[in-house]
Amino acid sequence: MSGGEPVDAVRVVAGGPRQSADRALRPTRFDEFVGQERNLANLRVFIQAASTRGEALDHVLLHGPPGLGKTTLAHIIAEELGTGILATSGTALGRPGDLAAILTNLDPRDVLFIDEIHRLPVTVEETLYPALEDFRLDIMIGRGPSARTMRIELPPFTVVGATTRVGRVSNPMRERFGIPFHVNFYRPEELQQIVARGAALLGLDLAPDAAGEIARRARGTPRVAARLLRRVRDFATVRGANAVVKGDAESALEQLHIDADGLDALDRRYLDCLVRSYEGGPVGIESLAAALSEEVETLQDVVEPFLLQAGFVQRTAAGRVAAGLAWRRLGLKPPSPGTIPGLFPADVAPEAGTADDG
Ligand SMILES: Nc1ncnc2c1ncn2[C@@H]1O[C@H](COP(=O)(O)OP(=O)(O)OP(=O)(O)O)[C@@H](O)[C@H]1O
Ligand SMILES: [Mg+2]
Repeated sequence: MSGGEPVDAVRVVAGGPRQSADRALRPTRFDEFVGQERNLANLRVFIQAASTRGEALDHVLLHGPPGLGKTTLAHIIAEELGTGILATSGTALGRPGDLAAILTNLDPRDVLFIDEIHRLPVTVEETLYPALEDFRLDIMIGRGPSARTMRIELPPFTVVGATTRVGRVSNPMRERFGIPFHVNFYRPEELQQIVARGAALLGLDLAPDAAGEIARRARGTPRVAARLLRRVRDFATVRGANAVVKGDAESALEQLHIDADGLDALDRRYLDCLVRSYEGGPVGIESLAAALSEEVETLQDVVEPFLLQAGFVQRTAAGRVAAGLAWRRLGLKPPSPGTIPGLFPADVAPEAGTADDG
């Protein structure tokens, strides 16, 4: 890291050391990255084209629920472009000057990764627009009558933005990203591949059906899969074994109270509250959050995307409604569809399983 850089920006040198447990499992090239095929195939083309022309890649906006690989992808993009990457976040860039300090530090074609881009203050966002479009910065110097703008020309560069809340990214901002990339939940087969790769990296002898068991309970999320894998490995270590078969994985996961659907404690509390306290809904998100003593944002960003996509919950104009699957999971009989007030067909607002907005 060079002297003038803000502390929040980390220059990651290609191929540099990766120490933490999370990082040890983090794919560094496209070939190691499992899933997201369609978006990934397109992204590879855009990267190859930009590299062939010697241009900066168009700006990329990665959006989707936590733990699905947005940060991982940002680093892979820089690696595949063969450029440097500077990482910062919407909360670290408090003033336009912070942004200017970072942008003037970029080399041509570098990647600037802005995590939680929906949290950028408006003044910083407005400074960013001309930088994104024309690679220039207009900075106000001084105040009052003597104030003037100074224009700084920047090298062409690529912003990779990441957010769990694409609905919170302003329209003008979103429109400046030429490559939007929605990161989806992973299929169990994909997660199994990720778990198997992780086990190999950790030097653990994991049977394929044991990997499958971990994958099935990982909530569609690689970060969860990696965490479960490390816990299963802990149980094996303490047993004095280095080989894990399906039964070992199952008993470890049971000890961890991970159920067969992979739902965690908060998921279960959410469903229980929706079904038992609100008779299946419809109920507003604020009421649910208050009843669970959780932040609305946590429910929207972390809990609901998976429950929606797995078919436990539906979002309707009148509020959240428990699907039949949720009732049956709790051992209850779902009411017949006509009796659920929020579930007349006209009220159902299908939202492709995401809770990005609202
Ligand atoms: N496609 C994948 N293949 C293999 N491992 C993956 C993949 N996607 C993510 N991972 C693993 O999952 C972990 C979490 O990924 P990452 O930190 O990139 O998620 P994120 O989308 O940035 O989450 P957040 O929104 O919380 O910042 C990484 O450490 C990585 O090891
Ligand atoms: Mg991240």
